[in-house]
Amino acid sequence: MTTLGTPLSPNATKVMLLGSGELGKEVIIALQRLGVETFAVDRYEHAPGQQVAHHSRTITMTDPAMLREQIEYDQPHLVVPEIEAIATPMLEVLEATGVVRVVPTARAARLTMDREGIRRLAAETLRLPTSPYQFCDSLAELQAAIEGANNQPGIGYPCIVKPVMSSSGKGQSKLNAPADVARAWEHAMAGGRVSHGRVIVEGFIDFDYEITLLTVRARGADGAIETHFCEPVGHLQVNGDYVESWQPHPMGPQALEKARQIAKAVTDDLGMTLDGQPGGLGVFGVELFVKDDQVWFSEVSPRPHDTGLVTLVTQHQSEFELHARAILGLPVNTTLRSPGASAVIYGGVDAVGVVFDGVAQALSVPNTDLRLFGKPESFAKRRMGVALAFDADVAVARSNAKLAASLVKPRAA
Ligand SMILES: Nc1ncnc2c1ncn2[C@@H]1O[C@H](COP(=O)(O)OP(=O)(O)OP(=O)(O)O)[C@@H](O)[C@H]1O
Ligand SMILES: [Mg+2]
Repeated sequence: MTTLGTPLSPNATKVMLLGSGELGKEVIIALQRLGVETFAVDRYEHAPGQQVAHHSRTITMTDPAMLREQIEYDQPHLVVPEIEAIATPMLEVLEATGVVRVVPTARAARLTMDREGIRRLAAETLRLPTSPYQFCDSLAELQAAIEGANNQPGIGYPCIVKPVMSSSGKGQSKLNAPADVARAWEHAMAGGRVSHGRVIVEGFIDFDYEITLLTVRARGADGAIETHFCEPVGHLQVNGDYVESWQPHPMGPQALEKARQIAKAVTDDLGMTLDGQPGGLGVFGVELFVKDDQVWFSEVSPRPHDTGLVTLVTQHQSEFELHARAILGLPVNTTLRSPGASAVIYGGVDAVGVVFDGVAQALSVPNTDLRLFGKPESFAKRRMGVALAFDADVAVARSNAKLAASLVKPRAA
């Protein structure tokens, strides 16, 4: 798609985002800069991306009939999933019948929509190193998986239990002893997105640090698909949710090489279309755990990653611009502009239409910037914005981003 159209005209290049949160909003802005006509779909009105797109659509994206109807009505050239909770088998049907192209592929969207598809692909098909794991459908199965049964050793303690379908650490717990198992099962049942009744239990990896390796599949000058890597993004998670990220995270040459090999293997596979062609394009966030020279695959987003918000201030082309360019078949540039950091601004309160105090103070911190996402409703633990900082020294950038984030104070109006 090297010819682009004029938005709102019969020759427009049309892209539909399925999910229009803060990450989708930035992808939409990047697409609009290239004159693409944008459609922002979400399950609620006035989602961040809907506030900047040409068209807003509010539907239940897990409902296959509604999803099909919307896509057939708007006829986008590309559909870009921004979240996991989508009727992905319907996307596979629509892609297979040539109705629409899904980014990177409908198959990748289906395999990453829950923890099982991607974990089995990475560990069992691609044989990549991961934590030991088992899937369980009941408390009894979970107990047996951890403690062992029929003379088979169990995963043991410590371990982590997660609903098969959840994100941002929801329903996730770390277990240190047998007394924790029942509570972890209950927590997972309450926290899963769709009442699925299935969990994954993983052995705990005692890593030195974890990174997101942003990996881009884009067309080169000759039209062939090439793989590009951004500098590693380091991050800090609290209760399974990202609170801080920075780029670059220093890595030894061996660990970096392994990280890139793992990322290449996963994205090569997820980049394959239903007919086995390497057609999938775009940004992937490959989550990896590192200890000395050992690297484990954790999970992957076939789209920009929340920890990659830092690239808004660190790269010539942010992960959102990279995604926009790659999916349109355009060349990309993944080079770093400056080291930098991001720090999350939580809502702190449960309220509709919050106001933000302290914005000027936050922006007085040297070399900082802010994104306030414009979410209509705040929750204490909802991500409402992010502070960004750059500095030649990553440590300075981290402390400035944290300071700026702490100065922004959302409150009920
Ligand atoms: N097996 C493990 N060993 C050690 N730490 C783990 C393990 N699994 C998860 N974690 C920790 O919990 C965090 C969240 O886990 P994971 O990425 O699987 O969940 P998530 O809910 O999809 O999170 P997100 O949506 O924010 O990426 C990881 O980034 C890591 O810090
Ligand atoms: Mg994760």
